[in-house]
Amino acid sequence: MINRMMVYYSLLVLIIISSAAIALAASTPSDCTGSISSLDDISDAVKCATVNINTFTVPAGKTFDLSLGTGTTVNLVGDVSFGNETWEGPLFQISGSGITFNGNGHTFDGGGPFYWDGQGGNGGVTKPAPMMKIKISGTWTNVKVLNSPERVYSVSNPEALTMSQLIIDNSLGDRPNSQSDGQPAGHNTDGFDVSTTNLLIEDSTIMNQDDCLAINKGSNITFQRNTCSGGHGISVGSISSDVTVSDITITDNTIINNDQALRIKTDASSTGSSVSGITYSGNTATGMRQFGVLIDQSYPNTLGTPGNGVQLSNVSFVGSENTIAVNSDAQQVAVNCGIDSCTGIWDWSALTVTGGTPGIINFDGIQEFTQ
Ligand SMILES: *[C@@H]1O[C@H](CO)[C@@H](O)[C@H](O)[C@H]1NC(C)=O
Ligand SMILES: *[C@@H]1O[C@H](CO)[C@@H](O)[C@H](O)[C@H]1NC(C)=O
Ligand SMILES: *[C@@H]1O[C@H](CO)[C@@H](O)[C@H](O)[C@H]1NC(C)=O
Repeated sequence: MINRMMVYYSLLVLIIISSAAIALAASTPSDCTGSISSLDDISDAVKCATVNINTFTVPAGKTFDLSLGTGTTVNLVGDVSFGNETWEGPLFQISGSGITFNGNGHTFDGGGPFYWDGQGGNGGVTKPAPMMKIKISGTWTNVKVLNSPERVYSVSNPEALTMSQLIIDNSLGDRPNSQSDGQPAGHNTDGFDVSTTNLLIEDSTIMNQDDCLAINKGSNITFQRNTCSGGHGISVGSISSDVTVSDITITDNTIINNDQALRIKTDASSTGSSVSGITYSGNTATGMRQFGVLIDQSYPNTLGTPGNGVQLSNVSFVGSENTIAVNSDAQQVAVNCGIDSCTGIWDWSALTVTGGTPGIINFDGIQEFTQ
């Protein structure tokens, strides 16, 4: 009896030890270099601590999906393109902890012209969106994304992530094509859609037709030294129901020829949300087409009837001067708060807006600013 118990006990210990070893093997990559030139190479390559991605075309309708072991280094050593197909995407997805991704200036080419019809996500053909789904912590550096079908990056990092020295070039989508009825062919081509915490995006260039950055929820997000060209500016929002946004820093960015430079948009229909601690410093904007700064609680309408379901507090322009020039037919600053929805004292001492006409500000907590 005792012997049999001991055999069972030993077996149990053995099973526990071996499953722990298997789990460890799965998450800790080996000391080797994997190489990817087709989707078939992925499963072997991700067993290695270093993974090189060579030039190849991902077959139409498939996601290039990299699920990496902790601490993996990935090097892009060629350009990746994707077959044409009308489907939901994403085209590329990456997950893992402590990842170092070196783009080395190489390109993910989304093949936008095949999809663009001026309608983005609002109609026309189904477009892969987002194009790039980033679910890593660590660093993502020196990557170019060319011609995304619709939205570019969706970021949901599990721990701290730095994204730097990136290029998003959707500038070709500024032009109409045969499908777009005279409108810019690219539409809803958001640069970064972010619902996350502990994210830094810096030293990047975004040329597109929608938000350069859109923060939908989260905290400790910094966006600095980026250049946004052609789109809808740097946005917090839109803010839906039951979300919290706090501790957002927008610093030293350059915004060129956008609809507005800096915007906070909360859905008129939202309830139970709060947005606080939005700090703008050292941003420079020229050629704004509609507004310099737009804070609007009536989204998706512009300056419509605002809702009351999002508490908005501590929006500040402090530190280095924020300098914004708007076009002659644009408004400088418009603030459209719901009743009692904007609270506290907002220090706007480091904001200068020139050109156009003053907008309407319906909140009296803004200090040290006149337009
Ligand atoms: C995708 O379509 C575009 C035309 O929009 C074409 O130039 C390109 O060669 C196509 N790509 C592939 C892989 O067939
Ligand atoms: C904020 O996020 C950055 C990454 O962007 C991270 O390095 C830092 O530790 C975070 N701060 C806190 C207080 O978690
Ligand atoms: C407002 O935000 C700034 C910058 O994030 C912070 O230093 C300050 O403590 C906040 N003030 C309030 C009243 O929350």
